[in-house]
Parts: sequence; structure tokens; C-alpha cells
Amino acid sequence: MRVAIISYSFSGNTKRACLFLMKTIKDKNIDAMSFDLKPENEEKAFLKQCKSAFYRQRVNIQKTAPDIGSYDFIIFASPVWAFTFAPALRVYLESIKDLTDKKCGCFLTYGSGLGKNKALTELEGILKAKGGRILFSKNIPGAKTGDKEYLAEQFKSLIDIIGT
Ligand SMILES: Cc1cc2nc3c(=O)[nH]c(=O)nc-3n(C[C@H](O)[C@H](O)[C@H](O)COP(=O)(O)O)c2cc1C
Repeated sequence: MRVAIISYSFSGNTKRACLFLMKTIKDKNIDAMSFDLKPENEEKAFLKQCKSAFYRQRVNIQKTAPDIGSYDFIIFASPVWAFTFAPALRVYLESIKDLTDKKCGCFLTYGSGLGKNKALTELEGILKAKGGRILFSKNIPGAKTGDKEYLAEQFKSLIDIIGT
């Protein structure tokens, strides 16, 4: 089993959850890599960030994102932005031609929780439309991403699937 974690994080919550996940997977001696999506000229103003997410605006990603063809299980993660997920992940997903027979997991971190279910359903829909088999999908409060016990509980079913 080879696992890839592809994520975008602006203020660090999603990244913290990904680091926890990565360490937990590696501690089980499972081959895993993570890749942080970084937009060129990353937008830092809240309202402009909201607008870019809401209107599905394009961003260019720095560095070439990895080819996930050789990975069996791919996990996608992003913060919720304006009731959807961040443009960097959207653009990356658009670059993936096919996920047929790939095991997929996804999670979003959120603040108030507004639009979080809609955002997750949209992300799941994109993965499914590319043929991905979604085995894990969850919304995680950003404020809890520093709580390792909480994360362990939230990711338990994912780790169990990856470990078997
Ligand atoms: C531009 C922007 C838009 C956001 N929109 C939402 C939203 O619609 N719903 C929500 O629950 N949280 C929203 N949040 C809060 C983030 O989803 C939350 O803080 C998340 O954990 C941040 O992840 P990060 O630290 O990995 O960037 C928004 C934050 C930003 C910066």
C-alpha cells in the first residue's frame, strides 16, 4: 500500500491534521508521501480568498504536483472556504484525469461550520466522477487540529483501512 496526502492549508490547521495523519501512517511502516499545494501569488486577503473560492477562480500551483498514478490510496485535504474548498485543491483535482479503482479519502477543516457539508459533498462528487472509491470522508473543526487524541479518534477508521 502506497499512500499520498495532497493538501492545501493557508493558516496551518489542515496542515497540522495532515502531519498527524502522515506520522501515524509512517509509524505503521506504510509507504506514504505528502505534498503541500502552494499557489503562486497566494491570496492573503480574506474577502478575496472567499471570492476566489466562491467563484471557482483559477490559481497556478507552484512546483509540479506529483503524479499520483503509482499510489494506491490518495487523501485530499483543504480548509472550507466560502462554503466550498480552496481553489488550490480544485485546480489540482482538475489536473487529475482518472482515479478509477483508486482508494480515496478526503477531509476538510472548518471554522464556523457554515457550508461544511455542502463543501464535502462537492469534493466527494468530484472524486467519484473521476472513478475514485471514497473510503473516508470527514469534516474536522480547525480548532481541534492541535488535539492529537481527537485527531486519532477522527482518523481511526481511515488508519484501520490503510493498515489492513
Ligand atoms: C477565506 C476563508 C473562508 C472561510 N470560509 C469558511 C466557511 O465558509 N465555513 C467555515 O466553516 N469556515 C470557513 N473558514 C474557516 C476555515 O475553514 C478554517 O479556519 C480552517 O480550519 C482553516 O484551515 P487552514 O488553517 O488549513 O487554512 C474560512 C476561512 C477563510 C480564510
